[in-house]
Amino acid sequence: MGDRHTMPELMDENDVVDLLLRQHAMIRDLFAEVESAPPDARGEPFQRLVRLLAVHETAEEEVVHPYARRKLAGGDEVVDERLAEENAAKDMLTQIEKAGVDDPRFLANLDLLRTAVLAHARAEERYEFTHLRAETSQAERRAMAAGVKAAEALAPTHPHAGVETATANLLIGTPVAMADRIRDVVRKAMGKQS
Ligand SMILES: [Fe+2]
Ligand SMILES: [Fe+2]
Repeated sequence: MGDRHTMPELMDENDVVDLLLRQHAMIRDLFAEVESAPPDARGEPFQRLVRLLAVHETAEEEVVHPYARRKLAGGDEVVDERLAEENAAKDMLTQIEKAGVDDPRFLANLDLLRTAVLAHARAEERYEFTHLRAETSQAERRAMAAGVKAAEALAPTHPHAGVETATANLLIGTPVAMADRIRDVVRKAMGKQS
């Protein structure tokens, strides 16, 4: 699997709901890819998973959730619940990243993270995206898809295959540092105060 397969900003969906559903499928596939990789080759797909989760969740937090909060009936409650799930997953991801792919509990912890992330994705699809699809115009969803892709395109890319893991970690940073950097460039690009 090369870079292009796990770079959400290169997807061609124009409706934000289609786009995010496809990214959820990509996240699901990448968990499976990390899990099935030989132990000594987990590092590279795991770094792609860290990046994918960081760019996906940050784009949702900067572009999609604020819109859902304003537009949907009961939007505040729905978005607060999703943000709590995203923060819990971010904490789990940080712990896993810190322990490293050689930690004896790596696969067990990865499985807990997958359960949490996929439950979160299902809750978004059921309680947020279904309503977004029903209560927004096609033009609004196209504009949001463009916003998500622009946000994701600003995220740092992971280093090319062949770069050592230590260097990869230096370039990418921790999941939280990465999410913060992405948020920062997205807010600057959107002309907001960070
Ligand atoms: Fe999310
Ligand atoms: Fe999501």
